[in-house]
Amino acid sequence: MALPPGPRGPAPWQTLGWMLRPAAFLQRVHARYGDPVTIRTYWADEPMVLFSSPAAVREIFRLDPAVAPAGQSWEYLRPFAGADSILVLDGEEHLRERRLLQTPFHAERMRAFRGTVAELAAAEVRTWSGRVVTLERMKHLTLEVILRVVFGARGEEELAPLRDAVHGTLDTVRSMPRMLAMALVQRDLGPHSPWGRFRLAVERFDALLLDVVARRREQPEGDSVLALLLEQRDEDGNPPTDRHLRDELVALLVAGHDTSAASLAWAFERLARHPEVQARLRAGDPAYLEAVVKEALRARPALTIAPRRLTEPVTVAGHALPAGVHVTACLWLAMRREDLWPQASAFRPERWLEGAPPSPLSWIPFGGGVRRCAGAPFAEMEMREVLRAAAPLTLRPVRAEGEHARRSALVVTPDRGGEVLVER
Ligand code: HEM
Repeated sequence: MALPPGPRGPAPWQTLGWMLRPAAFLQRVHARYGDPVTIRTYWADEPMVLFSSPAAVREIFRLDPAVAPAGQSWEYLRPFAGADSILVLDGEEHLRERRLLQTPFHAERMRAFRGTVAELAAAEVRTWSGRVVTLERMKHLTLEVILRVVFGARGEEELAPLRDAVHGTLDTVRSMPRMLAMALVQRDLGPHSPWGRFRLAVERFDALLLDVVARRREQPEGDSVLALLLEQRDEDGNPPTDRHLRDELVALLVAGHDTSAASLAWAFERLARHPEVQARLRAGDPAYLEAVVKEALRARPALTIAPRRLTEPVTVAGHALPAGVHVTACLWLAMRREDLWPQASAFRPERWLEGAPPSPLSWIPFGGGVRRCAGAPFAEMEMREVLRAAAPLTLRPVRAEGEHARRSALVVTPDRGGEVLVER
């Protein structure tokens, strides 16, 4: 079965474009081959067919999960995320897990978490002056938010060791080639081998996290995602097991930490180059703040694709695709279509306040269908609070030209880390 056309360059070449200059690469292949386009990179084991038209996006997000599962695409995360993690599950098990995770991320629940996120954001931006690499700062802040608001950790005696332990595990997880190589071998050649060291780091992290869980079970306190997950009951009325809670919390860490940090760093990268947007933000209109968040997620999405691997041949938008290939709504291309987004490459929050709202099939930074980002309301709330806290500052770019996109493990980040000059 012939796949839609795509670049003929060898996989190593395409991989370089995909990793080092993902935005330019996507723009180039789209301009040359149109929609859809097939790419071959070492990022996936089989060719990947990228679609961006709303009709194709709708079809992909509605594909039967049995025919187009997503869990397999995150398989390499299993050694850390765990077997019960929503990320690696498919079918009924995945849907059951999704239902459980929906409660804490209900828009109403966000109100309870907002105050803590706002406090943490204010404390963070208070330290800013001179040159700030926002990606580094946002990695720190979004981890702090996850530890306190998601894991429900309290006090430095719980937070400090958890912070260290997260770095010990996530630094390995962030390197996909390393994870893949280790998962392939999966041989514990002693505590000094890469796999052995990784397993020890995960065990240490798990022990600390389960300590927090045990304490919150005994003495529930405060508003946290963990507190809400502890209230869950399965069909037989049983509370969640430690193992299950651990996998739920780790899935939220893996899915929610780097994505939020990258999205915020991009927002700062754009804001620094748009003083007029900063000025309007400072005026404090909540509708404008929301428009800035939406526009940052559109113009610079942290994830470029939402892949599904076909287990059977499928036809998408009239294109017959064989089993085995990865089919994906290309988030980046869908949000850069000139037919849907006039002046698509411009950062213009005003577009959200003029005319009719865009179709949900053309604004897809959180993917879609049954796999749509489970933490989307949380992520948007967090972005709003951080940008609100930073609004009184004046941000200027260190260099006038915009930063290039670069792939860093799962996410796409500004290549100079979203560096800004801060004036108070
Ligand atoms: C701006 C930040 C974020 C972005 C851009 C983002 C984007 C995404 C995308 C594109 C997906 C895959 C959707 C698909 O395959 O159709 C996803 C999945 C997911 N995200 Fe997010 N995300 C963000 C923040 C968060 C946060 C803060 C959390 C939780 C605290 C979270 C939890 C999840 C989970 C659990 C999944 C897996 C859903 C499933 O497989 O059913 N995300 N996210």
